[in-house]
Amino acid sequence: MTATIIDGKAFAAKVRQQVAEQVSKIRAERHEAPGLAVVLVGEDPASQVYVRNKGTQTVEVGMESFEYKLDVNTSQHDLIALIERLNADPKVHGILVQLPLPPQLNSDLVINTIDPAKDVDGFHISNVGLLGTGQKSMVPCTPLGCLMMLRDHHGSLAGMNAVVVGRSNIVGKPMAQLLLGDSCTVTIAHSRTKDLATVCRSADILVAAVGRPEMIPGDWVRPGATVIDVGINRIERDGKTKLVGDVHYESAAKVAGAITPVPGGVGPMTIACLLANTLTAYCRAKGLPEPVGLTA
Ligand code: GUN
Repeated sequence: MTATIIDGKAFAAKVRQQVAEQVSKIRAERHEAPGLAVVLVGEDPASQVYVRNKGTQTVEVGMESFEYKLDVNTSQHDLIALIERLNADPKVHGILVQLPLPPQLNSDLVINTIDPAKDVDGFHISNVGLLGTGQKSMVPCTPLGCLMMLRDHHGSLAGMNAVVVGRSNIVGKPMAQLLLGDSCTVTIAHSRTKDLATVCRSADILVAAVGRPEMIPGDWVRPGATVIDVGINRIERDGKTKLVGDVHYESAAKVAGAITPVPGGVGPMTIACLLANTLTAYCRAKGLPEPVGLTA
């Protein structure tokens, strides 16, 4: 069997197109636009690339983009003061503080200062609690993108065995909550799981989010399973830098029913879902109907 490739790049373009159409309507009817504020502290090169891409794509879908680049030595007090200003700013509907933060800053405290209604990352403890209790929340972008691709591929996920490998707050845990919300039978596995191979082989849906290059070989994949590879790992091979996932793609693609490639799978969906979340936050703030197909 050769797996169907789930094209995240094309899917993300479709999501951005849907967002852009809604924003265009809002601009025409209400003479304003959803606004996203992104805060970057310091000069981490990977974070700078992310933030630049976020800014470009925000403008491309017609939203207002506000970027705040702060010195690496910014104090907790000054960062919190900025977030409080953004919380009160009526032009700002979404706020994202790029992680990781420099060591003098307490990430939990900073994230929990963001107004939960503007927390487009879905990292605020209120949103985590709402998601965990099946209530309407802001949902973390990467797992939301994975869910959208799974729903698009399968229709209903009810009754499927889902295994999430990885237990991070950003991907693993919210992914498991979302799959449970769609009536999957969910297992969260991690580095200490006994006989991980057997656990993975039980999955109809296998989500890999561990951050270890090519850790999951094809013979851990159940024939016909859907594999969602969240990993983006930079490795050196044959003297070149290469991006690989957490799944060994070549061997997994021979047994899976469907698989997301790296690059071009989950990656592009993250920013697309950030834009979708910003639109959702705007609609909720204004009492407008939520965008169809762009929420959990
Ligand atoms: N750093 C890497 N990914 C993310 C993300 O999704 N959100 C935030 N805030 N920081 C990140």
